[in-house]
Amino acid sequence: MATSLHSTDPRKWILSLITLTCILGASLFIDPPSIGTQILGKLNRVVPDGLTGWSVLTSPNWKIQPLAVNLSSCHPAIGRPGKLVNCCPPRNMLDDPISDFEFPDPDTTPIRVRRFAHRLDDDYIAKYEKALSIMKSLPHSDPRSFTRQVEIHCQYCTGSFLQQGSDFPVRVHRNWLFFPWHRMFLYFHERILGSLIGDETFALPFWGWDSPDGMTLPELYLNGSFNDHRRDPSHYPPTVVDLNFKKLDPTRSTPEEQIRLNLALMYNHMVSGAKTAELFLGCPYKTGEYEECPGTIERAPHNPLHTWLGSPDIDGREDMGAFYVAARDPIFYAHHSNGDRLWGLWSETHKGFDDPAFLNSYTYFYDETLRLVRIRFSDVMEMDKLRYRYEEIENAWVAARPEPSVSPRLARREIRKREREREGNVVLDLPSSRFGPTNRVLDSTITIPIDRPREVWYSNRRNEKEREEILVVEGIDVKANDYVKFDVYINVVNSTILSPIYREFVGTFVDIPGGTSSSKKRTKLQLGISEALEDLEADQDRTIWVTLVPRTESCNQVTVDGLKINYTEK
Ligand code: C2O
Repeated sequence: MATSLHSTDPRKWILSLITLTCILGASLFIDPPSIGTQILGKLNRVVPDGLTGWSVLTSPNWKIQPLAVNLSSCHPAIGRPGKLVNCCPPRNMLDDPISDFEFPDPDTTPIRVRRFAHRLDDDYIAKYEKALSIMKSLPHSDPRSFTRQVEIHCQYCTGSFLQQGSDFPVRVHRNWLFFPWHRMFLYFHERILGSLIGDETFALPFWGWDSPDGMTLPELYLNGSFNDHRRDPSHYPPTVVDLNFKKLDPTRSTPEEQIRLNLALMYNHMVSGAKTAELFLGCPYKTGEYEECPGTIERAPHNPLHTWLGSPDIDGREDMGAFYVAARDPIFYAHHSNGDRLWGLWSETHKGFDDPAFLNSYTYFYDETLRLVRIRFSDVMEMDKLRYRYEEIENAWVAARPEPSVSPRLARREIRKREREREGNVVLDLPSSRFGPTNRVLDSTITIPIDRPREVWYSNRRNEKEREEILVVEGIDVKANDYVKFDVYINVVNSTILSPIYREFVGTFVDIPGGTSSSKKRTKLQLGISEALEDLEADQDRTIWVTLVPRTESCNQVTVDGLKINYTEK
């Protein structure tokens, strides 16, 4: 039976369940446009189009409309596999008047400075403690209360709301909504905390897990309102965080080795593997479409750290390990503020999405004055305009570019030999890069040759390097109700050491269960590999060899359709 994050009237429950069953059933069997309208006809109260530019529900072009939240569609949803939860607001949000978001006035609003959580002074801690305990004492009916804050995250990770004009859910993980949505969430959360203690300068701290000085759980979170008993105590300080947390043969590294590994992973996911908006921010998520494919930082360290910190004694490693309750742990906000900081850093040197379907998408939050605010994704592209910034720290990973574990010359010789055998068809048991109808189970390490598109290796030979090469692991079916992780390497030969500290590592797939209507899901992994190929001296080769290494037992419930190479302008 379903569990509620807050108490509700059982009659509402039955109604909600019926609604949910209809929605899930319909989305499984019928094409969205037609049935969408029928279902929404009942569920929806049309939000009036107040301002030019906000999309109207009834537009026939719903497919290309910016994504928007259908406020009247909240329903119980799957928190994590086997767990139905209701995290809907206690009353219909449409009963509240809607105000459009306004930027804080730059002339009168002080800048909030988010500080490194390992270097906070006692005054600050006392202030935050006070704000948080007031927030925790507010009644559930108050949207500023801590329980309601937790539920907001639950709503958007489980898909409790549907999209306007479609019967697809709104989900903010594993797609391009990830960074901007969490930025909005923190923005309102921080302002509420500040207003509860009458401090306009109050700013959240950030857990700088990408910096060697920040690679433990900040001490602050062991005490008072900041504590959460549903954690893994073996990961308390002085244990160094494992940004690449896996379950099979857990890394037993020294603190120094772990730090080196963390920095190498960061380099990979912030620099070499993150050269395009889609690689870093995740794939498009538009009205009426559903495809999962998270960006680099969301996959790791974001996902592994959730699981690393959650309690091993509770299913789903709650709290942090299960998104629907993750925001119960106060460290959640510092964890996300660091992700937000990294997005800011990345944006200084890269171009984000300019697709209007992204920028004009919008959602709603209650602000510190209890107003229901409608906010567009384009509103949160610049921190300056939102009047906050981050304390600067050294970004040690910038200089952590990994080196090949085997000399490229030696590796090439072995790969050439492999190539010749392949051409002579000696290696008959090697699967092709398209696995065909009988996809491959990831129950053991597999190595596959892939032929690269001529455009790519040929233009590299002519030194025209304006393209980013993308390795796609296609049709990943995750049937596991568990944390899933596998790593991807390129041109591995017998003597290669399989660790992210070496250049052969090109990225990792990490999935936390939950947030979908069933435990099954289909996703893909995109990895930017141009820089790694150059360092491996393989950028002019016609073929590369890709190795997939399962890192959790749950990988034996994961199948992969195939691999391919794409390329895109940088
Ligand atoms: Cu919305 Cu770290 O999760």
